[in-house]
Order: sequence, then structure tokens, then C-alpha cells
Amino acid sequence: MKLLTVIGARPQFVKAATVSRVLDTCADIEEIIVHTGQHYDKKMSDLFFEELNISSPKYNLNVGSESHGAQTGRMLAELEKVMMLEKPDWVLVYGDTNSTLAGALAAKKLQIKVAHVEAGLRSRNRLMPEEINRVVTDSISDLLFAPTQAAVEQLISEGREDFEIIFSGDVMYDLMLSTIQRLPKTSDTIKHLNLEQTNYLLVTLHRAENTDEPDILTSIIQDLVSVSKKWPVVFPLHPRTEAALKKFDLYPLAEKNFLLLPPLGYFDMVNLLKDSVAVATDSGGLQKEAFFLRKICFTLRNETEWGELIEAGWNRLVPPGLPSGIANAIQDFCSFPRKSILPYGDGNAAEKIVFALKNQGLRTGK
Ligand code: UD1
Repeated sequence: MKLLTVIGARPQFVKAATVSRVLDTCADIEEIIVHTGQHYDKKMSDLFFEELNISSPKYNLNVGSESHGAQTGRMLAELEKVMMLEKPDWVLVYGDTNSTLAGALAAKKLQIKVAHVEAGLRSRNRLMPEEINRVVTDSISDLLFAPTQAAVEQLISEGREDFEIIFSGDVMYDLMLSTIQRLPKTSDTIKHLNLEQTNYLLVTLHRAENTDEPDILTSIIQDLVSVSKKWPVVFPLHPRTEAALKKFDLYPLAEKNFLLLPPLGYFDMVNLLKDSVAVATDSGGLQKEAFFLRKICFTLRNETEWGELIEAGWNRLVPPGLPSGIANAIQDFCSFPRKSILPYGDGNAAEKIVFALKNQGLRTGK
């Protein structure tokens, strides 16, 4: 069976790592990796391939940054050429980025079957580009790998058939379980910070709705400045966020009050998370990773796809732009009751995904 994997943005490298590792052990499946080039900086891309031992992409489309339509359109045109050349049996896409959407759409237009990892998640906010990408990708995918039972139920409520949906569990949970047992020692980047104490707040921010609105970004930064009087704020910067802080003249304030870092690799991030007191983020993946390591997370959004974490008390939404939202949430949240839950499977999501793809291959005679 020939499987073509489309990845292009940082969270997809993390998600694809465990599945590609299992695929490497299957003599009867050939995996071809295509990198769209949506994320292109060394620290946003190459570093993850090196650290997580992902095979080099056979194709790099070097699409880079553009407006949404132009970026997705360029990917679509280039992916179509690759798919026509390679003629895969399946195309595998991950998550909710423009690369996910382009991969699924290019494949379906060529009548190639699509499998979507991380299917069935919904924020119910159609202003988010990621929500549009999820809804469209799920609606045209042939096989839907749901990370949670809630995602399974969502897909059923949208009319999908049982045989199309597989509760795989979460591939990011698989990766965390295998990483935490053999986490490389703290790197020079982290040693340099002299963060011996574990009372810092780990912050990440990259969503357009938070970074591209000057009022919202200013309010978040001011809120974090007041938090930094209580807990040091450690803040690895996404390139979009660094650019926005500079554009809106907030960089000097951030530099003075926070420990600003470049984008970090996976192992450095896990190390920093492991030693933090809590996390504030608008990332989808980091909300789950915080829970995997039983850290409290303040989510800088109006809604989240990971509702089970809110219900269990591990995650609290802090609507961006709310004055002192994070500072107030921190006051009482540490003593908030938290329930023990295990919604993300048993750590074998990648095996289940590969097993299901093999069975599908048998069904179609491949
Ligand atoms: C994308 C995904 C989002 C995911 C996130 C993880 C979409 C719509 N969004 O958002 O779901 O959570 O990735 O990071 O696909 N840039 C660089 N170097 C890079 C990459 C980006 O400088 O290597 C800058 C560019 O100026 C670009 C901006 O960051 O315009 C944003 O990049 P973009 O491709 O829009 O994606 P993300 O915001 O990272």
C-alpha cells in the first residue's frame, strides 16, 4: 500500500512522528512524506524532524507564508502534481491547518481516499480558520481517527457512519508517554535561564485572533506583566507573535518583564512544561500536553476543542481582552478541585491508526 502523508506546520510534525515510527516497521506500506513548507524556519520545522526522527520528506513544496487563500491555493496546485505522480492509495492528513485542508482537498479531487487524524474536534467558532479547516476536512475524509469519545459522538451527530469513525486515542499522548521516559537532559537554552525554581508560568501565543489585534495583544501582555510580579513568565515566541509585538511596539515591555525565548524544540518544551507551575496558551496541543503532565492550563481563548479538560477542572478559559483575566484566574485556580480523567486513549493511537489503514487496504485488495 502506498500512503502519502501531508504535513507542513509545527504541530503536525509532532503528531506525525509516532505514526511514521509505526509505519517504518511495516514492510507492506510505503510512506511518502510531503512537507508543504507552511512552516519553514529551522526552529519551526527541521528541528522537529531531527529530534523526533521523522524521515526526510520526499517532497518539500516550499509554499511559505501567504494570505489564507493564496497559501492554501498554492499548496493545492503543488500537492495535485505530487499526487498525480505518486498515485497513492491513501492520503493521511493531521489536525486543522491550511496544509490539512489542502491535502484533503487535493486528494479528493483526484478520487484518492483520505484519512484524517484528530477528526471530530469542534470549537464551534467559525471565525477561526482552523475550525473551517476541520469541518471541511472531516466532511470529505473517508476515514476519521477521533482522539476522544466526545469527538466520536460529534462525528456521529454530523451523520457520519460508524464504519468511517475509529476511536484511536490521541497521537500526542503516545508521544508524551514515550518521551517522558527518556527525556534528554535540559538543553543549554534552558540552563541559560537559571530557572531552578518551579514557580514559573509557561506562556505561548500564536493565534491570529490574539496576535493581530493590537487591543487584544496589549491587554494580554499587560495582564501577563501583572502575573510576572507573582510568577516569572517564560515565553517562547512564535514568529508571528514576535513580529506582532514589534509591530505594535510591545516588544520592549515584554522583554523587560518576561523571559523571552526563540521557538523551542519538542524536548525543550516538554522539559519547560514539566518544571512549570502552570501554563497560559492559545495553542490546541499545549492544552493537552499540560494535562498529560498534570499541569493547570489557562487557555487564552473564548472556547476550546478540549471541553473534557474544562469539565474536569484542569483547564480554564480566559477570554482574551478581559482586563486582568489571567491574574484573576490564577488567584483561586490552584486550589480548584480537579477530577482524574483518561480521555485520550491508552497510548497506542499510532498502532491503531496503522492497523486500521492496513485493514482498509485489505478491503480494497491492496
Ligand atoms: C498555523 C495553523 C494553526 C497551528 C499553528 C501552529 C493555519 C490556519 N493555522 O498557524 O492551526 O496551530 O500553525 O504554529 O494553518 N512564520 C515564520 N516562520 C515559520 C512559520 C511562520 O516566520 O516557520 C510567520 C509568518 O510570518 C506567517 C506567520 O508566522 O505569516 C503565521 O504563519 P501561518 O502559516 O499563518 O501559521 P500559524 O500562525 O503558525
